[in-house]
Amino acid sequence: MAATNYRESPYLTGHHRPTRMEVDAPDLFVEGELPADLAGVFYRNGAEPLYPPTDEDYHWFDGDGMVYAFFIEDGRASMRNRWVRTDKLLLEMKEGRRLFGVHGNPVTTDPIARHTRYNTANTNIILHGGKLLALMEGAPPVELDPRSLETIGEESYGGVITTTFSAHPTVDHANGELVNIGTIARDGDRSPEIHYEVIDFSGRPIRTEVIPVPHQSLMHTFFVTENHVVFPVTPLDVSIKRALSGGPIVAWMPDRPTKLGVMPRRGTASDVRWFEVEPRHMLHQANVWEDGHRIVADVAAAEGTALFPDLHGRRRSHQETQQSLRRWTIDLAADTGAVREEIINDRDIQFPRPDDRLMTRPSRYAFSNSNLNSVDGRVDGMDSVLRVDTRTGVEDLYHFGDGAAAGELIFAPRVGGTSELDGYALTLVHKEGAAETELAVFDARDLSSGPLARVRIPFRIPSGFHCNYYSVDSPLYEQAMRA
Ligand SMILES: [Fe+2]
Repeated sequence: MAATNYRESPYLTGHHRPTRMEVDAPDLFVEGELPADLAGVFYRNGAEPLYPPTDEDYHWFDGDGMVYAFFIEDGRASMRNRWVRTDKLLLEMKEGRRLFGVHGNPVTTDPIARHTRYNTANTNIILHGGKLLALMEGAPPVELDPRSLETIGEESYGGVITTTFSAHPTVDHANGELVNIGTIARDGDRSPEIHYEVIDFSGRPIRTEVIPVPHQSLMHTFFVTENHVVFPVTPLDVSIKRALSGGPIVAWMPDRPTKLGVMPRRGTASDVRWFEVEPRHMLHQANVWEDGHRIVADVAAAEGTALFPDLHGRRRSHQETQQSLRRWTIDLAADTGAVREEIINDRDIQFPRPDDRLMTRPSRYAFSNSNLNSVDGRVDGMDSVLRVDTRTGVEDLYHFGDGAAAGELIFAPRVGGTSELDGYALTLVHKEGAAETELAVFDARDLSSGPLARVRIPFRIPSGFHCNYYSVDSPLYEQAMRA
């Protein structure tokens, strides 16, 4: 029997509802004018389950990866979108139905899928080593053709990296290295570990180190500076054993401090020093850098999370757990292991981003989507975009209107531009009830005046996760597109 509809779920209705289609749109209508010096590709990944989930508790992170690509040049824009054809999705397409339990839960997965890896490839989409890679933590990257978005297959770096990959590896633009972590799901007596990996600009793995960590946590991100790497172990505890006995696979532990393991980038596991901050939920940072003997991390953090329950199944509300932009300062010279926390801006934000070219080095501005009037920004939509000057606290905000759902806001450098604000800021936005979605293009120095141009996509693109922009003159673009 063919699939007919999605169940009622906050992440399968409204602006989250999947469109279930793949399109090629060669020349989109543009309101306003696309700047002549904006030329490159904007990729976005997100969760769009092709088949209705079978578990009761569908989770936003659980859908199949759908990649959108916008190619912008000469004042014109084209787009296409394709599902990432993972082995999981191909098997489900063959059967014509959902086979996997939520988060790949083995208890609720159909036995015919037990030899197939649960890989949704739905979280991030990056260019590195000449390849376009769709990423989720918990599985290897999946390579796509950077133009056609055709799925090429799982990338294992010649069999060298066989553990899971991060959804947020860091590109150090100073040398082109991709710094990655892989978590290893493990229960029982063996202590949890992660893998730390470095891949050079050409895509060749050059470094692997196994790092013991205090708890098996959902390490969605980690920090890289010029000389250090930081492994955040947050109170989001992961346990397959608990899931097999009916508990949550990911649970918030309210009394567990957030632990930050600091290691020199060229160091080994024996060099790791652990620092503690209060129990904090933290999935994303704007940027992290060194200031003398200090590590400065500008993060989106909160005292808890609405995304996962505690051990008793209780889940807190979005309002109680709004993330704000905070600065964590780790003093490597101090005797104490304490981390200083300051709130830079207390607005409700979701995905903070820097000028990517400054990742690992000092930066001044944090771009993000933000929420002014929604009750729950994740469910109802983030209705605004925000740029914060982290030195002065001055903010630059644009509200798309109540009920709007704006995605991650990213900086897109002007062709030939080198300084931090010399360019544009891009986000996909859906207005409540609209049949269309817009790719809004702002002057990066002035969000509050509204978009310079709106690329009109003639259907609703469901809200998703991460996006990246590669200018035609960036080394990563040139490397991937010259083939
Ligand atoms: Fe993320």
